[in-house]
Amino acid sequence: MVRARRAGGPVELNRAGSPAQLEELGAALARAGCVAAEDEAAELWAAAGGDLATLGDFLARRVTGEPLAWIVGSTTFCGETIVVHPGVYVPRWQSEPLALEARRRLTPGGVAVDLCTGAGPIPVALGCRQGFARVVGTDLDPAAVSCATANGVEAIECDLATALLPSLGGRVDLVTAVVPYVPSEELVHLPRDVLAHEPRRALDGGPGGTVLLGRAVAEAATLLRPGGSLLVELGGEQADALAPLLVGHGFGEIVVARDEDGDVRSLWCRRS
Ligand SMILES: C[S@@+](CC[C@H](N)C(=O)[O-])C[C@H]1O[C@@H](n2cnc3c(N)ncnc32)[C@H](O)[C@@H]1O
Repeated sequence: MVRARRAGGPVELNRAGSPAQLEELGAALARAGCVAAEDEAAELWAAAGGDLATLGDFLARRVTGEPLAWIVGSTTFCGETIVVHPGVYVPRWQSEPLALEARRRLTPGGVAVDLCTGAGPIPVALGCRQGFARVVGTDLDPAAVSCATANGVEAIECDLATALLPSLGGRVDLVTAVVPYVPSEELVHLPRDVLAHEPRRALDGGPGGTVLLGRAVAEAATLLRPGGSLLVELGGEQADALAPLLVGHGFGEIVVARDEDGDVRSLWCRRS
Protein backbone atom coordinates (compact mmCIF):
# COMPACT_ATOMS: atom_id res chain seq x y z
CA MET A 1 0.00 0.00 0.00
CA VAL A 2 1.12 3.56 -0.61
CA ARG A 3 -0.12 6.44 1.41
CA ALA A 4 0.20 10.14 0.66
CA ARG A 5 -1.04 12.32 3.48
CA ARG A 6 -1.61 15.86 2.21
CA ALA A 7 -4.28 18.55 2.25
CA GLY A 8 -6.56 16.37 0.11
CA GLY A 9 -6.53 13.56 2.73
CA PRO A 10 -4.78 10.20 2.63
CA VAL A 11 -5.15 7.89 -0.36
CA GLU A 12 -4.18 4.22 -0.40
CA LEU A 13 -3.31 2.27 -3.54
CA ASN A 14 -2.09 -1.23 -4.17
CA ARG A 15 0.14 -2.52 -6.92
CA ALA A 16 -2.59 -3.92 -9.14
CA GLY A 17 -3.56 -0.47 -10.37
CA SER A 18 -7.24 -1.29 -10.80
CA PRO A 19 -9.65 1.23 -12.31
CA ALA A 20 -11.00 1.77 -8.80
CA GLN A 21 -7.55 2.71 -7.56
CA LEU A 22 -6.96 5.04 -10.47
CA GLU A 23 -10.31 6.58 -9.61
CA GLU A 24 -9.20 6.97 -6.01
CA LEU A 25 -5.97 8.63 -7.15
CA GLY A 26 -8.01 10.92 -9.41
CA ALA A 27 -10.31 11.78 -6.52
CA ALA A 28 -7.34 12.72 -4.32
CA LEU A 29 -6.03 14.97 -7.08
CA ALA A 30 -9.47 16.53 -7.58
CA ARG A 31 -9.73 17.24 -3.84
CA ALA A 32 -6.37 19.00 -4.10
CA GLY A 33 -7.83 21.24 -6.84
CA CYS A 34 -6.42 19.58 -10.01
CA VAL A 35 -8.75 20.41 -12.90
CA ALA A 36 -7.89 17.43 -15.15
CA ALA A 37 -7.61 15.01 -12.23
CA GLU A 38 -8.42 11.79 -14.15
CA ASP A 39 -5.87 12.48 -16.89
CA GLU A 40 -3.27 13.45 -14.31
CA ALA A 41 -3.91 10.28 -12.34
CA ALA A 42 -3.22 8.21 -15.44
CA GLU A 43 -0.04 10.18 -16.19
CA LEU A 44 1.30 9.88 -12.64
CA TRP A 45 0.48 6.18 -12.59
CA ALA A 46 2.33 5.58 -15.86
CA ALA A 47 5.32 7.71 -14.83
CA ALA A 48 5.64 5.83 -11.52
CA GLY A 49 6.00 2.60 -13.52
CA GLY A 50 4.10 0.53 -10.97
CA ASP A 51 6.35 1.58 -8.08
CA LEU A 52 4.01 2.52 -5.25
CA ALA A 53 6.63 4.39 -3.21
CA THR A 54 7.38 6.55 -6.25
CA LEU A 55 3.69 7.08 -6.85
CA GLY A 56 3.18 8.17 -3.25
CA ASP A 57 6.04 10.66 -3.64
CA PHE A 58 4.62 11.94 -6.94
CA LEU A 59 1.16 12.38 -5.42
CA ALA A 60 2.55 14.22 -2.41
CA ARG A 61 4.40 16.62 -4.73
CA ARG A 62 1.43 17.18 -7.02
CA VAL A 63 -1.02 18.02 -4.24
CA THR A 64 1.29 20.85 -3.17
CA GLY A 65 0.71 22.36 -6.63
CA GLU A 66 4.07 21.40 -8.15
CA PRO A 67 3.64 21.34 -11.96
CA LEU A 68 2.76 17.90 -13.34
CA ALA A 69 5.43 18.28 -16.04
CA TRP A 70 8.17 18.63 -13.41
CA ILE A 71 7.00 15.44 -11.70
CA VAL A 72 6.54 13.23 -14.76
CA GLY A 73 9.47 14.93 -16.54
CA SER A 74 7.80 16.07 -19.74
CA THR A 75 4.83 17.68 -21.43
CA THR A 76 3.43 17.77 -24.97
CA PHE A 77 3.68 20.82 -27.24
CA CYS A 78 2.44 20.85 -30.85
CA GLY A 79 2.35 17.05 -30.69
CA GLU A 80 6.02 16.81 -29.62
CA THR A 81 7.27 15.49 -26.29
CA ILE A 82 9.19 18.20 -24.44
CA VAL A 83 11.42 17.29 -21.49
CA VAL A 84 10.81 19.75 -18.66
CA HIS A 85 13.35 19.86 -15.82
CA PRO A 86 12.16 20.97 -12.36
CA GLY A 87 12.46 24.75 -12.06
CA VAL A 88 12.03 25.41 -15.78
CA TYR A 89 8.91 27.22 -17.11
CA VAL A 90 6.35 24.67 -18.35
CA PRO A 91 5.38 25.27 -22.02
CA ARG A 92 1.71 26.26 -22.35
CA TRP A 93 -0.74 25.03 -24.98
CA GLN A 94 -1.77 28.68 -25.41
CA SER A 95 1.59 29.27 -27.16
CA GLU A 96 0.93 26.59 -29.78
CA PRO A 97 -0.88 28.84 -32.35
CA LEU A 98 2.15 31.19 -32.36
CA ALA A 99 4.50 28.24 -32.91
CA LEU A 100 2.32 26.87 -35.73
CA GLU A 101 2.17 30.27 -37.47
CA ALA A 102 5.96 30.56 -37.10
CA ARG A 103 6.36 27.12 -38.68
CA ARG A 104 4.20 28.27 -41.63
CA ARG A 105 6.45 31.31 -42.14
CA LEU A 106 9.78 29.47 -41.92
CA THR A 107 11.15 27.97 -45.12
CA PRO A 108 13.26 24.78 -45.16
CA GLY A 109 16.91 25.54 -44.44
CA GLY A 110 16.04 28.94 -42.98
CA VAL A 111 17.48 30.55 -39.86
CA ALA A 112 15.32 31.33 -36.83
CA VAL A 113 15.97 32.68 -33.34
CA ASP A 114 13.72 31.91 -30.38
CA LEU A 115 14.23 34.52 -27.67
CA CYS A 116 13.57 33.32 -24.09
CA THR A 117 13.38 29.71 -25.20
CA GLY A 118 12.80 28.07 -21.79
CA ALA A 119 12.62 24.29 -22.33
CA GLY A 120 12.78 24.95 -26.08
CA PRO A 121 9.26 24.00 -27.21
CA ILE A 122 9.17 26.52 -30.06
CA PRO A 123 12.45 25.42 -31.74
CA VAL A 124 11.18 21.84 -31.47
CA ALA A 125 7.86 22.85 -33.08
CA LEU A 126 9.90 24.58 -35.80
CA GLY A 127 11.44 21.23 -36.67
CA CYS A 128 14.93 21.77 -35.27
CA ARG A 129 15.19 18.10 -34.30
CA GLN A 130 14.52 17.03 -37.86
CA GLY A 131 16.93 19.61 -39.29
CA PHE A 132 14.10 21.53 -41.01
CA ALA A 133 15.85 24.82 -40.21
CA ARG A 134 18.58 26.21 -37.96
CA VAL A 135 16.86 27.48 -34.83
CA VAL A 136 18.89 29.09 -32.04
CA GLY A 137 17.21 29.47 -28.65
CA THR A 138 18.43 31.92 -26.01
CA ASP A 139 17.70 32.09 -22.30
CA LEU A 140 19.19 33.86 -19.30
CA ASP A 141 18.56 30.87 -17.03
CA PRO A 142 21.25 28.11 -17.20
CA ALA A 143 18.66 25.52 -16.09
CA ALA A 144 16.47 26.45 -19.07
CA VAL A 145 19.45 26.28 -21.46
CA SER A 146 20.35 22.82 -20.16
CA CYS A 147 16.73 21.66 -20.52
CA ALA A 148 16.43 23.07 -24.06
CA THR A 149 19.69 21.32 -24.97
CA ALA A 150 18.24 18.05 -23.64
CA ASN A 151 15.36 18.65 -26.07
CA GLY A 152 17.76 18.81 -29.01
CA VAL A 153 17.76 22.62 -29.25
CA GLU A 154 20.85 24.72 -30.08
CA ALA A 155 20.55 26.83 -26.93
CA ILE A 156 22.71 29.71 -25.75
CA GLU A 157 22.78 31.34 -22.33
CA CYS A 158 22.48 35.09 -22.87
CA ASP A 159 20.33 38.16 -22.29
CA LEU A 160 17.77 38.13 -25.15
CA ALA A 161 19.81 38.14 -28.40
CA THR A 162 22.97 39.89 -27.20
CA ALA A 163 25.33 36.99 -27.97
CA LEU A 164 23.85 36.53 -31.46
CA LEU A 165 23.74 40.10 -32.76
CA PRO A 166 27.38 40.19 -34.02
CA SER A 167 27.16 36.90 -35.96
CA LEU A 168 23.51 36.74 -37.05
CA GLY A 169 22.53 40.42 -37.35
CA GLY A 170 20.52 41.00 -40.58
CA ARG A 171 20.64 37.28 -41.53
CA VAL A 172 17.68 35.81 -39.63
CA ASP A 173 14.43 34.80 -41.37
CA LEU A 174 12.24 34.54 -38.29
CA VAL A 175 12.27 35.58 -34.63
CA THR A 176 9.88 34.16 -32.04
CA ALA A 177 9.59 35.58 -28.54
CA VAL A 178 7.55 34.23 -25.65
CA VAL A 179 9.21 36.58 -23.18
CA PRO A 180 8.00 37.28 -19.64
CA TYR A 181 5.07 39.68 -20.20
CA VAL A 182 2.90 39.56 -17.10
CA PRO A 183 2.72 43.12 -15.74
CA SER A 184 4.55 43.21 -12.38
CA GLU A 185 1.49 44.82 -10.82
CA GLU A 186 -0.69 41.86 -11.95
CA LEU A 187 1.55 39.00 -10.79
CA VAL A 188 -0.54 38.67 -7.62
CA HIS A 189 -3.53 37.60 -9.76
CA LEU A 190 -1.74 34.56 -11.20
CA PRO A 191 -2.89 31.14 -9.98
CA ARG A 192 -1.48 30.35 -6.53
CA ASP A 193 0.42 27.26 -7.78
CA VAL A 194 2.10 29.20 -10.59
CA LEU A 195 3.26 31.86 -8.16
CA ALA A 196 4.45 29.31 -5.63
CA HIS A 197 6.45 27.13 -8.03
CA GLU A 198 7.31 28.68 -11.40
CA PRO A 199 10.31 31.01 -11.63
CA ARG A 200 9.39 34.69 -11.22
CA ARG A 201 12.01 35.56 -13.84
CA ALA A 202 9.98 33.62 -16.42
CA LEU A 203 6.81 35.60 -15.74
CA ASP A 204 7.55 39.16 -14.63
CA GLY A 205 7.46 41.56 -17.59
CA GLY A 206 8.04 44.69 -15.48
CA PRO A 207 5.66 47.65 -15.28
CA GLY A 208 2.86 47.10 -17.84
CA GLY A 209 4.57 43.82 -18.80
CA THR A 210 6.24 45.47 -21.80
CA VAL A 211 9.86 45.90 -20.69
CA LEU A 212 11.18 42.71 -22.34
CA LEU A 213 8.64 42.91 -25.17
CA GLY A 214 10.06 46.31 -26.13
CA ARG A 215 13.64 45.07 -25.96
CA ALA A 216 12.70 41.99 -28.01
CA VAL A 217 11.24 44.20 -30.77
CA ALA A 218 14.43 46.29 -30.92
CA GLU A 219 16.75 43.26 -30.99
CA ALA A 220 14.56 41.42 -33.53
CA ALA A 221 14.80 44.47 -35.82
CA THR A 222 18.58 44.07 -35.78
CA LEU A 223 18.54 40.30 -36.23
CA LEU A 224 16.00 40.05 -39.06
CA ARG A 225 16.69 40.37 -42.78
CA PRO A 226 14.24 42.56 -44.76
CA GLY A 227 10.99 40.59 -45.14
CA GLY A 228 11.74 38.46 -42.07
CA SER A 229 9.00 37.74 -39.52
CA LEU A 230 8.66 38.52 -35.83
CA LEU A 231 6.09 36.69 -33.72
CA VAL A 232 5.60 37.66 -30.06
CA GLU A 233 3.24 36.41 -27.40
CA LEU A 234 1.47 39.14 -25.44
CA GLY A 235 -1.91 39.99 -23.95
CA GLY A 236 -4.31 42.69 -22.77
CA GLU A 237 -3.56 46.09 -24.29
CA GLN A 238 0.09 45.27 -24.99
CA ALA A 239 -0.32 45.06 -28.79
CA ASP A 240 -1.54 48.68 -28.85
CA ALA A 241 1.27 49.74 -26.54
CA LEU A 242 3.87 48.08 -28.77
CA ALA A 243 2.54 49.32 -32.15
CA PRO A 244 4.47 52.65 -32.31
CA LEU A 245 7.69 50.88 -31.36
CA LEU A 246 7.14 48.26 -34.08
CA VAL A 247 6.51 50.91 -36.72
CA GLY A 248 9.53 52.88 -35.49
CA HIS A 249 11.73 49.80 -35.98
CA GLY A 250 10.50 49.23 -39.52
CA PHE A 251 7.89 46.53 -38.93
CA GLY A 252 4.69 46.32 -41.00
CA GLU A 253 1.95 43.81 -41.95
CA ILE A 254 1.04 43.69 -38.26
CA VAL A 255 -1.50 41.01 -37.33
CA VAL A 256 -2.94 40.78 -33.81
CA ALA A 257 -4.05 37.19 -33.12
CA ARG A 258 -6.87 36.48 -30.66
CA ASP A 259 -8.11 33.26 -29.07
CA GLU A 260 -11.67 31.91 -29.34
CA ASP A 261 -12.73 34.15 -26.43
CA GLY A 262 -11.55 37.23 -28.33
CA ASP A 263 -8.58 37.82 -26.04
CA VAL A 264 -5.33 39.07 -27.59
CA ARG A 265 -2.73 36.26 -27.54
CA SER A 266 0.06 37.22 -29.93
CA LEU A 267 1.28 39.60 -32.60
CA TRP A 268 2.89 38.75 -35.94
CA CYS A 269 4.64 41.21 -38.27
CA ARG A 270 7.29 41.61 -40.97
CA ARG A 271 10.47 43.65 -41.15
CA SER A 272 10.37 45.99 -44.15
C1 LIG B 1 7.44 32.78 -20.32
S1 LIG B 1 8.91 31.78 -20.33
C2 LIG B 1 8.79 31.13 -21.99
C3 LIG B 1 9.64 29.94 -22.25
C4 LIG B 1 9.38 29.27 -23.61
N1 LIG B 1 9.52 30.21 -24.70
C5 LIG B 1 8.02 28.63 -23.64
O1 LIG B 1 7.13 29.10 -24.37
O2 LIG B 1 7.82 27.64 -22.92
C6 LIG B 1 10.14 33.04 -20.44
C7 LIG B 1 11.60 32.57 -20.42
O3 LIG B 1 12.40 33.76 -20.56
C8 LIG B 1 13.60 33.61 -19.81
N2 LIG B 1 14.13 34.97 -19.62
C9 LIG B 1 13.72 35.92 -18.75
N3 LIG B 1 14.42 37.05 -18.95
C10 LIG B 1 15.27 36.82 -19.97
C11 LIG B 1 16.25 37.61 -20.67
N4 LIG B 1 16.48 38.88 -20.33
N5 LIG B 1 16.94 37.03 -21.67
C12 LIG B 1 16.74 35.73 -22.02
N6 LIG B 1 15.82 34.94 -21.39
C13 LIG B 1 15.10 35.48 -20.40
C14 LIG B 1 13.16 32.86 -18.57
O4 LIG B 1 14.25 32.21 -17.97
C15 LIG B 1 12.09 31.88 -19.16
O5 LIG B 1 12.70 30.66 -19.49
